[in-house]
Parts: sequence; structure tokens; C-alpha cells
Amino acid sequence: MSLMTWTVEQHGTNVSFADNEHQQVFQNLNILYDLRIEGAETPKIVEQLKILLGIVAAHFSHEEHEMQVKNFIGYERHKIEHYELISTCTAMEIKIQAGELELTERICQLIKSWFDSHIPEYDRAYSQALNA
Ligand SMILES: [Fe+2]
Ligand SMILES: [Fe+2]
Repeated sequence: MSLMTWTVEQHGTNVSFADNEHQQVFQNLNILYDLRIEGAETPKIVEQLKILLGIVAAHFSHEEHEMQVKNFIGYERHKIEHYELISTCTAMEIKIQAGELELTERICQLIKSWFDSHIPEYDRAYSQALNA
């Protein structure tokens, strides 16, 4: 079962690199979600969480670079949003690895909700600037 399904209506930004990378993020979030459903051992979960966070961090850097190149006005605020998710998820990863936290349905849903609101609210906002 998939946690996230990318649709142009819900997640399309009209910026091709962003749409491609968002789909890659969703695929890797789905892999993580499936591992949890299957009851995978902590090392497997942590391994996939690290892969996912690597992909997310690379995507955020890519967006930030493009926004900066185009002098996008929302750059600073957008960057803070990215930073907050990475900090939260990195702290979670450390706790999961230490056996102090379990990857729960609620955590997966929180990550899903973050993307479901960030993409339409923040990413779509740079569409015009990045396509100019
Ligand atoms: Fe994005
Ligand atoms: Fe973003």
C-alpha cells in the first residue's frame, strides 16, 4: 500500500526538475512506509530513512539554488521550512537508531502532511519565478 501518490492536481508545480524530484521523494517515502507495515527490523528502517533524508536534502538544496539564482523573493522563508523538516527528521532518525523511538503510522502521516501542504503552498509559489 502506498502512503503517497503524486498527482499533477495535488502536487504539480509546473517546474519539471521539482516534479521529478518530488516523485522520487514520494517513492522513497513509500518504501519506508512499506518497511514499517512489513514490520522490518530497525536497521532496515534506519537505512531507508537515511536514503530518504539524503534524497530530500538534495532536493531542498536544488530548489534553494534555483530560487537564489532567480532572486526569488520567498527564498529565505522557504529555506526555513526546509530546515525545519530536515532538523525534525534527523532528530527522529537518531532516536530511532538508538532504539528510543519507533517509526509509527503517525510519524509517516506527519511527513506525508508536510509534503502535501509544502508543495502546493511553498513550491508552487516559485513556479513563475523559476520559469521566467
Ligand atoms: Fe519541493
Ligand atoms: Fe520546497
